Amino acid sequence: MFSTEDKAVEWLESTTWSESPICLHCGGIENIGEYKFKKFTYWYKNRYKSFTIKTGKIMHSSKIGVQMWTSLIDHMVFLANAYLQAAELWKQEADWRWTKYKIQINQGRLKEMANRSHRNSGLLSINKMRKEGKQHSSFNLIDIADKCKNTKHLILNKDCFSFLKTVPDNSIQLIVCDPPYNVSIADWDKHDNYIDWCDAWLKESERVLKPTGNIVIFGGLQYQEEAGSGDLISIVHHMRSASKMKLVNFIVWNYPNGMSAHRFFANRHEGIAWFGKTKKYYFDLDSIRESYDEQTKLIYLKDKRLRSETIEKGRNPTNVWRINRLNGNSKERVGHPTQKPSELIRRIVKSMSSPGSIVLDFFAGSAVTSRVAIEEGRHSVSVDSNKNIFEYFGNHLEQISGDVDYSSFNILLENEELKHPLFKAQ
Ligand SMILES: C[S@@+](CC[C@H](N)C(=O)[O-])C[C@H]1O[C@@H](n2cnc3c(N)ncnc32)[C@H](O)[C@@H]1O
Repeated sequence: MFSTEDKAVEWLESTTWSESPICLHCGGIENIGEYKFKKFTYWYKNRYKSFTIKTGKIMHSSKIGVQMWTSLIDHMVFLANAYLQAAELWKQEADWRWTKYKIQINQGRLKEMANRSHRNSGLLSINKMRKEGKQHSSFNLIDIADKCKNTKHLILNKDCFSFLKTVPDNSIQLIVCDPPYNVSIADWDKHDNYIDWCDAWLKESERVLKPTGNIVIFGGLQYQEEAGSGDLISIVHHMRSASKMKLVNFIVWNYPNGMSAHRFFANRHEGIAWFGKTKKYYFDLDSIRESYDEQTKLIYLKDKRLRSETIEKGRNPTNVWRINRLNGNSKERVGHPTQKPSELIRRIVKSMSSPGSIVLDFFAGSAVTSRVAIEEGRHSVSVDSNKNIFEYFGNHLEQISGDVDYSSFNILLENEELKHPLFKAQ
């Protein structure tokens, strides 16, 4: 009798059989242990023998040899041990199968939820189109022509609602919306019923966006007692039932610089909720890909599974964007207290609007959106209820990139609305 598995193995290894798998058909011991087996294949890991153990008659392969018969009793005991061990493995396997089965059931139940994995059917069809050199249908709805050579930028000191009601339906490609966060940092930053107030400009936004249009809404997660007054999470939650627009991404703007904290983790992010008006929202990923460094590129180019043209284009920047906030002494500062970095707005403008299309920002603050629109060849409209918008925007103009030709854009102010492409067609 083998007291330990090792002894049994020692005995097995002392036999003369060949290295080919050996079939042992054993009867009468299938009830040993708690488990009955119909069929079980048990590979003795890291050994050079393997067994197929079946219920049924006692049989042996012709290669087993005489020693097997002389040690039949020991052999049966060994098999019993093997059975018990196999039973344990079988049970583990059964547990695992059951877990997988449960996962599959859940997957079935959750079928309606958006699936962003590599099995996503939308993604598969986009990959197929790319291989065939075709573009997504949203690109066909956009007239990219040569309209970006002379762009127009309307800067207005107005309340957003009085402006929005003048905007034609389906006329705007992108709305950059950085609303008051309702945290009382200024007079304009407090609303008793924040979500009702947001609902009014959200409805107008949905109306004025083109079918290919996008809106990005900035916001944070308010703390403690402020939380009840509404924040970006409340806006997104509200839109689930109050709007037909589609949440495409919830982008995390992660900034490495910020205030310290002692009673909680120091905050280093804000949210940007991106909604497309319809499924045909415009998105130009190639315009904002991040280049790989030379070393990574060389490694990836050797990987046969990756396409060299995609490697050359660079990586998808993902929905976590690490971009510094503007410090008080940052060169880009034009005086607005909550000014956003142009790098952040640029990524949005480049990827969500085409050259020559119209970008609107009705909580414009410093009008950074118009500054970026000038640099990127889009038309823009910036509206803010604070008259300082003109001074801030003037400071932006002084900073615009030397690559921009001053004759390539026009600034329009109040009473010049009709010269802007947004109203021209009316
Ligand atoms: C968060 S700031 C925008 C900052 C801007 N993104 C920037 O980078 O400069 C919000 C702006 O909304 C403006 N605002 C608040 N209520 C408004 C309203 N009803 N109509 C138009 N502008 C409004 C405020 O004056 C403030 O400048």
